[in-house]
Amino acid sequence: MSTPGTSGIGEGAGRSVRDKARAHLGKHFTRATAWRSPELLVIERGEGCYLWDDHGRRYLDGLAGLFCVNIGHGRADIAEAAADQMRRLSFATNWAAAHPPAAEAAALIAGLAPEGLDVVFFVNSGSEANESAIKFAREYHQANGEPQRTKVLSRRMAYHGTTLGALSATGIPQFRAPFQPLLPWFRHVPNTLGWEREDEVAAGQAPCIKAIEEAILEEGPETIAMLIAEPVQNVGGVLVPPDGYWTELRHLCDTYGILLCADEVICGFGRLGHWFGSLRVGARPDLITFAKGVTSAYAPLGGMIVRGELMDRLLDTTGMFTHGVTWGGHPLCTAVAVANITALRDEDVLGNVLTLEPHLRQGLGELAARHRIVKEVRGAGYFWGIEIMGDRETGRELDPEEKAAVCRELLPRLLKQNGLMTRADDRGPAMLMLSPPLVADKTVLDDLLERVDATLTGAEAEISGGGP
Ligand SMILES: Cc1ncc(COP(=O)(O)O)c(C=O)c1O
Repeated sequence: MSTPGTSGIGEGAGRSVRDKARAHLGKHFTRATAWRSPELLVIERGEGCYLWDDHGRRYLDGLAGLFCVNIGHGRADIAEAAADQMRRLSFATNWAAAHPPAAEAAALIAGLAPEGLDVVFFVNSGSEANESAIKFAREYHQANGEPQRTKVLSRRMAYHGTTLGALSATGIPQFRAPFQPLLPWFRHVPNTLGWEREDEVAAGQAPCIKAIEEAILEEGPETIAMLIAEPVQNVGGVLVPPDGYWTELRHLCDTYGILLCADEVICGFGRLGHWFGSLRVGARPDLITFAKGVTSAYAPLGGMIVRGELMDRLLDTTGMFTHGVTWGGHPLCTAVAVANITALRDEDVLGNVLTLEPHLRQGLGELAARHRIVKEVRGAGYFWGIEIMGDRETGRELDPEEKAAVCRELLPRLLKQNGLMTRADDRGPAMLMLSPPLVADKTVLDDLLERVDATLTGAEAEISGGGP
């Protein structure tokens, strides 16, 4: 038997997991200090809404992994479904063929998607899902006799992934800068920050909509293939759109012949209390991209859902959608998707989100009122962000260095102290993100609110005491 934190496998037997990870494991989006830290976090076990590290410390998973462990950790039934599938059929492709779990998962997902979206094309991640949507839009327009429609519009600060096509759609300057020049046929348009509450302004008149129309006209409407946006945008501050916003996006796309894609990598599979965020915000997209919650992260799977008539048009004209990947719709991952979606449905997990959303909203509102460093709380369902400022009473904002120090040092330290696993995000406004597993009940939500309260109390003492 190995001792905790060590593995008995291979040459490194006896060295701790942490030592091996520090020496050999490439870590994603990790600053050098954390990469090399002797305190590198090592998570060993998960159950429900909680995680345990290799020292036996328990954390509340306030981010559901990375907005993805929707059904919670440690489900034996999903592990069983995966094992059964691997015993029966470990691999077959969806290239000019099909297998039962992929067909079953596709039918289930199409049945839950907004009306008309009935063809599900599987890949392995959210980035690949968005690549697929971009390629579909381009090839569809070619097939439809408009090969000049090549451009893609996406919103500023939106994260659509890291592969070069998806990164070109991503609107976060610091993620784009190292890879310039990116693909030139992407244009970034304003998001809805600041326009969430302008209910008195008709959505069609909102500057965030007018700016998109101006961009379409400047580029030449006949050159634009697709507009992509998240129902609720994550980066940039959990941006819930104003009422009517998606109706206006649909109207613009219909007017100018553009395909509308909802990136539901976070919002899909219950995060906003509906199977798709589009259903919550009144979106009628032509394409939906998804990943994360489709398997509650028990296995990697992504995909796009396309209006059947668009796929038919492409197939009838060109004979093939010229795109595919080896693992697309892998039997293991699609069997896991079926088990996960079935459990989410049978256990009414989305009902849990809708029932408890007001409790979470109210609790966060009370925390905001109590803490002067909270500028605003935004969100919907189980997807929330707390915007941090210097002092609400004096109107002091954090300066850029202070914002970086708060999000990269102070909040991570306090979150760790308070046993709360989540992210402080300084890519847009300073945000403390909250996105618990969708199975979190009232007791877990109260625990979450207490840990957030303690974190904000600690942060307030240091921020108003002259900076972290
Ligand atoms: C909205 C959105 N789109 C796309 C992606 C990319 O997904 P992946 O990391 O699976 O490639 C993410 C990842 O966080 C996301 O949040």
